[in-house]
Amino acid sequence: MIRSQFQYSKKVLKHFRNPHNLGKIKDPSGAGEVGNMACGDVMKLYIKVKSNVITEVKFETYGCAAAIATSSVITDLVKGKSIKEAIKMTNKEVIDSLDGLPPIKIHCSLLSIDALSEAIYDYLVKENLEIPKEVVLRHQRLKVHSS
Ligand code: FES
Repeated sequence: MIRSQFQYSKKVLKHFRNPHNLGKIKDPSGAGEVGNMACGDVMKLYIKVKSNVITEVKFETYGCAAAIATSSVITDLVKGKSIKEAIKMTNKEVIDSLDGLPPIKIHCSLLSIDALSEAIYDYLVKENLEIPKEVVLRHQRLKVHSS
């Protein structure tokens, strides 16, 4: 759902005011950090993986209300998913689970899906597991944009 230019849904405000899974995982299975060069916001996402399932997720985000709300909601969405399922997650799922975002804030939601992808990439590299092509391509795109 696309909302009016500046209007946040109740769900966005709820997650922004009371973010879920805020913080850091000590000794994570994987961690991903991404930033938005235009606004300077940064998100770091940590995952703990057991038997190929994401059992714990935490995040640290320095950013706007939309960036914090999408970080919070993605931790709820991804917990309990297999790595394969988590890789298939889309930005639309994140936005829909917040009952939409104002159009000027859609780009903020990309941070969470990109940070998740980078955390998965980090996990797969550390474990020496096969990395699906879409994860490699996203990693390369993010590397180019951050350098
Ligand atoms: S304005 Fe920077 S992520 Fe929202």
